[in-house]
Amino acid sequence: MRVLTLHEGRWEMSRLKVVLVFGARPQFIKSATVIRELIRYRINLTIVHSGQHYYSEMSDVFFSELKIPPPTVNLQVGSGSHAMQTAAILKRLEAVLVKAKPAIVIVPGDTNTTLAAALCAAKLAMPVAHIEAGLRSGDMTMPEEINRILTDHCSSLLFAPTQTAASNLKKEGLRKLTHLTGDTMVDVLESAFPLAERRQTSILDRFKLKARAYVLVTLHRPSNVDDPIRLGQILLGLRRVADKLPVLFPVHPRTRARFANLGVLTKSKHTNIAMVPPQGYIETLALLKNASCILTDSGGMQKESFLLHVPCLTLRSTTEWPETLVSGSNRLVPNPKDLPREILSVAFNEDLRRRLHQLKNPFGDGHTSRRIARIIERTVNHR
Ligand code: UD1
Repeated sequence: MRVLTLHEGRWEMSRLKVVLVFGARPQFIKSATVIRELIRYRINLTIVHSGQHYYSEMSDVFFSELKIPPPTVNLQVGSGSHAMQTAAILKRLEAVLVKAKPAIVIVPGDTNTTLAAALCAAKLAMPVAHIEAGLRSGDMTMPEEINRILTDHCSSLLFAPTQTAASNLKKEGLRKLTHLTGDTMVDVLESAFPLAERRQTSILDRFKLKARAYVLVTLHRPSNVDDPIRLGQILLGLRRVADKLPVLFPVHPRTRARFANLGVLTKSKHTNIAMVPPQGYIETLALLKNASCILTDSGGMQKESFLLHVPCLTLRSTTEWPETLVSGSNRLVPNPKDLPREILSVAFNEDLRRRLHQLKNPFGDGHTSRRIARIIERTVNHR
């Protein structure tokens, strides 16, 4: 992908640049194999980290575990309100993009980093490629739903992970820009799973857990953790569950801060609830695979539990992954008061387990990243 460009009066061979912008935990995961493939295609890639997530356990660990090259630039925006975070990324990224003059800007997922980067590039008339396009939960109170819709509508290449996502884009008049590629998270999971399997015994030992005899919990959405009453109800529900089954709860920094406000010690007195720091990707896969069931509000974990045939309960009233709501693989539980009953009804259900092993995977064949890299390479070459 070399082109002749006029530079200070002289013709020079240069390779067109592609810039990938990410900054939050799930984005590192879903980009890892795409980056690997872009490098294989000899794309001149610049990686920009917005700095939205900055703790080592929210960022660095994914770079080392998934062998993501270090970012060329870190915008170091850190935490703040949505407006502040989005605005800081927009402002700081503009100078980077103006200097890099990329042929395409790649943005994965649906975080504030995704939207800010897409908007910044679109305003500079640079083509945007959105990985994980077309997801819709129908819930506009969810910050990610706003990010998804706006990002899709200022992108030129839309990589839809599922048929449902592609249909959503078609309904919004974006069919011509859409490529149904599959989901890059399948590629990442398949590449990391053997290591997770090798380490599972030591990981379970570390947390004093037995396979298929604990509930894995992750909660970080503002809709669950920012309201002290709801958070209190969730904790009460988990305590009831923990009387019957150990609970392992890797606590996101947002949730940890809310617990601190409530005066809840994350070193829980309830010996059957272990609140631990956020875990890396390999640990999380191993813990997911061996759990009796998952309680989450994350999008990624709904899919990962589907792919690993583990029952999932999602503490929300909507999901952007409706494909997971089949045969009881994933169930929406809007009311925290229902948690003990719902968790205990799926955790010991062997019939359900058997059914989950037979489900057809709608998320792709594990070659999505290569497909995306090929389309990017072709697009860049023909500019
Ligand atoms: C963000 C994404 C969400 C994604 C999640 C994964 C948006 C709107 N939301 O939510 O889609 O599922 O990441 O984690 O972009 N904090 C730290 N250290 C860190 C990162 C965060 O202490 O390294 C704390 C800060 O107090 C911060 C809070 O966590 O205010 C929330 O972080 P933020 O990036 O605003 O959103 P997330 O809740 O992580």
